[in-house]
Amino acid sequence: MVRADDSDDADPSTYDRYRELKRFDDSKAGVKGLADSGIAKLPRFFVRPPEDIAADQPGGSSSGLEIPVIDLGSLAAGRPAAVARVLAAAREVGFFRVVNHGVPESALAGALAAARAFHELPGEVKAGYYSREAGRKVKFRSNFDLYKSKHASWRDTLFCVMGPEPLDPLELPLVCRDKMMEYSKQVKALGITLFELLSEALGLKPDHLVNMDCAKGHALLSHYYPACPEPDLTMGTAKHSDPDFLTILLQDHIGGLQIYYRDQWVDVPPVAGALVVNIGDLLQLMSNDIFKSVWHRVLANHVGPRLSVACFFTLHHYPTTRMYGPIKEILSEDGPPALYREASFREFIAYYGSKGLDGSSALTHFRLVQ
Ligand code: OGA
Ligand code: NI
Repeated sequence: MVRADDSDDADPSTYDRYRELKRFDDSKAGVKGLADSGIAKLPRFFVRPPEDIAADQPGGSSSGLEIPVIDLGSLAAGRPAAVARVLAAAREVGFFRVVNHGVPESALAGALAAARAFHELPGEVKAGYYSREAGRKVKFRSNFDLYKSKHASWRDTLFCVMGPEPLDPLELPLVCRDKMMEYSKQVKALGITLFELLSEALGLKPDHLVNMDCAKGHALLSHYYPACPEPDLTMGTAKHSDPDFLTILLQDHIGGLQIYYRDQWVDVPPVAGALVVNIGDLLQLMSNDIFKSVWHRVLANHVGPRLSVACFFTLHHYPTTRMYGPIKEILSEDGPPALYREASFREFIAYYGSKGLDGSSALTHFRLVQ
């Protein structure tokens, strides 16, 4: 029987996926628009294919993993110990939390408030920012890979490129302008501290990664995950690793972030005041696999909205021709050979973007030794 609420997708032979995606995209209202309309059932293009769900239950219940914590307040007193902990965390887990990181509480709260203020703007105002244009520095969209992924995710994002060329604050919506500019400044400073520690963890001079332009540019991705009517059928963010050097993630109190560790999905529960840091694909490549860029995802939830602000250290939108490969100084005659070929930043991003969040790693494409 065809029910009124799913007449569009009741008959598989007439279901036109592209048309449905386009209609959703053209609404410029994102998943929040769907949630606000009160739907009780997910449109079919959000539903994960059964093989996807089946592949997802890799046995085991709890890995006992505690996400490593790095206390940046202890740097002055014991830098070598902090460097050793960063190395262990980046090599073994690819994710760690930082505490006493120097970003004031007010800036953290401000960034989450700014994200919420944007996403909760009236639909017609927000629609003015909706775009998939590659070159646009400030854009709102739902699912950057909407037309490529096997299923859409229950998430909207405001994407803002903050540097290397400083973003003109006037390009930001007024409701989030000042708070985003402030958070951007603070998180960039923290990024530099982290790249220094990560350089030392590789046995390099503290400024090595910064000199390779790793902290030169960053983008802020303000995500909004509305309460989802059928969270078991979809994802908030599908499994992926990040297409950048490093990510600093601020999440609110809702939870749902998981990382894939030793064949299991492990929760990264929110900790008030802490930030989550993860190694991106490019840093795994540059470190010749010493650091790991690991899969992670966000579960959809009956409870919402969930807000998060991810800071991607990336040269997105910057006309760099710089090539990135395994760092020469860390390759030695008795160590492993270079595991990756060199690639320009643009080539890497273009490849990652072309494949979407399909659950495979973009790094495979650049790997020399399979
Ligand atoms: C990302 C990401 C996680 C989150 O933006 O790449 O993984 O909690 N975000 O929103
Ligand atoms: Ni991510």
